[in-house]
Amino acid sequence: MTYELIFATNNLHKLSEIQSLIGDNFTIKSLQQIGCTEDIPETAPTLEGNALLKAQYVFNKYGKNCFADDTGLEIEALNGRPGVFSARYATDGHDFEANIDKVLEELSGVENRKARFRTVVALIIDGSVYYFEGIVNGEIIAERKGTKGFGYDPVFLPDGYDLTFAEMPLAEKNKISHRARAVKQLIDFLMQKS
Ligand code: IMP
Repeated sequence: MTYELIFATNNLHKLSEIQSLIGDNFTIKSLQQIGCTEDIPETAPTLEGNALLKAQYVFNKYGKNCFADDTGLEIEALNGRPGVFSARYATDGHDFEANIDKVLEELSGVENRKARFRTVVALIIDGSVYYFEGIVNGEIIAERKGTKGFGYDPVFLPDGYDLTFAEMPLAEKNKISHRARAVKQLIDFLMQKS
């Protein structure tokens, strides 16, 4: 039997990556594929809250089992900021360069550079909510290195590596990333269920 699950995203790259990892037991559909074109609000104060808001929106409106993700960069010396505000830290939009500039400025002269990316996935199946988490620890370097990836990748050096996320081949980043780790938890859970 094949189960249908909605992934509350329109990022088709994320969608196909998860579909290929999960195999044939589950069919994963995007928001677009179920005709949902609204901008789902992400107004919660935590990653868990935002992931749940997105999953709940789809479950309530379409009555379909669904999951959603939310990610933040948490910097120890900044008390976990930018965290849930990672996308719009410096401006209202998704200005990656301005966001990096703001973080580097705030960390100027700060010795503790420890940071982590954290992804939370909220899954709703038949009304029950489950959370999964993926973390990658590292540090924020003083200057950008590399041109691959997106967001804060040029200044994030994962522990145990001498390449930033923006210098690593994408396939390598995808093996160790926060998102990959959260999705692995989700998939392990779904595999047990199927
Ligand atoms: P989202 O929840 O996946 O949309 O991520 C929110 C924000 O976190 C993005 O706009 C980026 O600024 C940042 N972010 C998430 N994942 C990554 C990553 O893999 N590398 C760098 N920045 C990321």
